Amino acid sequence: MAQPPPDVSEDDCLPEYRHLFSPDLLRDKVAFITGGGSGIGFRIAEIFMRHGCHTVIASRSLPRVSMAARKLAAATGQKCLPLSLDVRAPLAIVAAVEQALKEFGKIDILINCAAGNFLCPASALSSNAFKTVMDIDTLGTFNVSRVLYEKFFHGHGGVIVNITATLGTRGQVLQVHAGSAKAAVDAMTRHLAVEWGPQNIRVNSLAPGPISGTEGFRRLEPWQAPCRGWGTRRRSPTAPSSWPALWHPM
Ligand code: HXC
Ligand code: NAP
Repeated sequence: MAQPPPDVSEDDCLPEYRHLFSPDLLRDKVAFITGGGSGIGFRIAEIFMRHGCHTVIASRSLPRVSMAARKLAAATGQKCLPLSLDVRAPLAIVAAVEQALKEFGKIDILINCAAGNFLCPASALSSNAFKTVMDIDTLGTFNVSRVLYEKFFHGHGGVIVNITATLGTRGQVLQVHAGSAKAAVDAMTRHLAVEWGPQNIRVNSLAPGPISGTEGFRRLEPWQAPCRGWGTRRRSPTAPSSWPALWHPM
């Protein structure tokens, strides 16, 4: 069996790639990937493109997705359209999807990868901080899925993959916001799979464990990135000294 390619720790394309699947697996498909300018989303875009797919990568920072698109197109020879959007803003999503359809004429696959996270004890987490992560991860996933449904998948079928996380399934200190948001996305996946499945729209979750070399991984290391309520800034009423013992990798 082929070995996986050597890892890289930055948002650069792999220095070498041996196909694990047929190089034509996704030939002439089009994938719309939120959060595709960095981390896991960037690598999904690269691997898809190495299998013949064209991609749209979308996130808030146009410079970030533009630079990523240049790297991806140069390494794979496929087309990559960078677009700016905030998954919390439905009108911006509509505009981006319309632009993608104008460029490619279709979208076959949606990868909902955009997310926000930080470490924070529940006792120091503001209502707006909790809401912000729910808005990006959960509502954002719904917003993009719904627009894609309305603009193309309805009547054509399609594939939706929601990137969630293993972290929330058994509970984790400092992660009530992200774990709750990802659990809601997993529930959303099941509901949409049942509701849209008969229309030839396949909806799945993909839950990674810790992926080294990514922003998400860096943010989950409490000793590298001390959080509110842990240090001296806003000490939590709960005993911070117990957290390191309660912290476990995903
Ligand atoms: C506590 C924080 C905080 C922190 C922000 N807030 N950072 N609270 N600890 N470290 C609070 C703010 O004080 C504010 O509440 C509210 O959250 C909104 O903050 P903003 O800065 O206005 O939000 P915004 O500009 O929308 O940025 C969103 C963000 C940011 C999530 C805070 O970090 C971001 O853009 N992240 C994107 C990249 C990222 O997070 N990548 C990792 C994904 S990995 P108040 O009350 O003050 O108004 C991942 C791992 C999965 O998801 C594992 C999951 C189980
Ligand atoms: P990342 O590089 O920070 O990816 C998150 C992406 O989302 C960024 O490209 C960011 O770009 C985009 N984004 C954030 N907020 C957005 C918004 N409001 N609208 C549009 N785009 C937004 O982190 P990552 O570690 O690769 O994480 C990718 C996915 O994997 C996330 O869903 C995460 O929850 C999941 N995951 C990661 C790990 C891990 O170990 N890394 C483990 C389990 C699950 P902009 O800043 O330009 O918007």
